[in-house]
Amino acid sequence: MAELRRGGLLGTKVRLRALERADLEQLRAWVNDPEVMRFSNTLRPISDVEQARWLEAAVSSAHAVWFGIEDARRGQPTLVGTCCLVDIDGVGRKAELRIRIGDPDAWGGGLGTEACQLLVRHAFDALNLERVWLRVFDHNARALRLYQKLGFVVEGTLRRHDFVDGAWRDTVLLGLLREDAVRAAPARARGRRA
Ligand SMILES: CC(C)(COP(=O)(O)OP(=O)(O)OC[C@H]1O[C@@H](n2cnc3c(N)ncnc32)[C@H](O)[C@@H]1OP(=O)(O)O)[C@@H](O)C(=O)NCCC(=O)NCCS
Repeated sequence: MAELRRGGLLGTKVRLRALERADLEQLRAWVNDPEVMRFSNTLRPISDVEQARWLEAAVSSAHAVWFGIEDARRGQPTLVGTCCLVDIDGVGRKAELRIRIGDPDAWGGGLGTEACQLLVRHAFDALNLERVWLRVFDHNARALRLYQKLGFVVEGTLRRHDFVDGAWRDTVLLGLLREDAVRAAPARARGRRA
């Protein structure tokens, strides 16, 4: 918690920090970029009014935790994406994880993996959740690889659940229990593929 109060969750490549009003235009540029949104289901451009309303709702929700992902290696820390736990359920002790690295130049550099590791640790150690789950389109190979590397287990497939960019897609559901995360940790530390 002390780490959090100092302004974020710090890894070796990324820092997770609060989203600020100053991030609005960057966030909006990402959600309006077709390349970034290739693996999301967006059907129309997002206005500045809508983006501001979204941010207000996101940061003030009692059932969600949103972070900006900063590349901590650059001289000047730069916002490269967002991640969150939403639908936090204090009784069932679960939440849904979402992540977006908005700068395509930063894809494949390990930032998403570390951001998810920090977020998962936050979910289990600080929020005392028992389960983190997520959904991903079946053609998002990079995301699927990342989640399975962290110990997420495929729990089901919603067949032809979404129509994305002119094609039907299955949505894959993955879940990570507290014990799955513990089991996956030593493999990661040894640099092995899970
Ligand atoms: C998905 C996303 C979060 C991943 O973060 P990232 O920083 O790009 O990914 P990382 O570099 O940490 O790890 C990706 C892993 O997938 C692997 N990978 C990359 N491209 C791949 C591909 N086409 N097929 C399979 N694996 C692939 C990488 O090699 C790496 O695995 P490794 O560490 O074993 O080598 C990021 O690319 C992103 O935000 N994309 C756009 C939005 C999105 O898809 N969000 C997720 C929605 S569920």
